[in-house]
Amino acid sequence: MRRNTQPSERLKEFKAKIRAADGILIATPEYNYSVPGVLKNAIDAASRPYGDNPFDGKPAAIMGVSIGMLGTARAQYPLRQTMVFLNMYPLNRP
Ligand SMILES: Cc1cc2nc3c(=O)[nH]c(=O)nc-3n(C[C@H](O)[C@H](O)[C@H](O)COP(=O)(O)O)c2cc1C
Repeated sequence: MRRNTQPSERLKEFKAKIRAADGILIATPEYNYSVPGVLKNAIDAASRPYGDNPFDGKPAAIMGVSIGMLGTARAQYPLRQTMVFLNMYPLNRP
């Protein structure tokens, strides 16, 4: 079965909002020491098709709260990895 590669209207709208933004602030919880799947899916969906990446060159910041001691640090690191490929510029320190 072939995968449907046509972006939905919701996805087009999401990408347009990212493109229009001066910067991106991601507020996230931490799920099992990593990025919540729903957040990763949203980023991945918006980043495709290859060459149509609305995150390209955007300044970014990441914040989060959790019930754990590290306050989402283990979700924030893999998010930064993804930002390398997406060519975003995350703030390193407050
Ligand atoms: C599936 C799942 C995994 C979680 N894993 C972690 C974790 O590894 N570290 C952590 O500090 N908090 C973890 N949490 C707690 C969340 O980071 C968050 O604090 C909690 O879910 C409350 O936020 P919410 O009301 O948006 O779900 C987890 C929560 C869920 C539902």
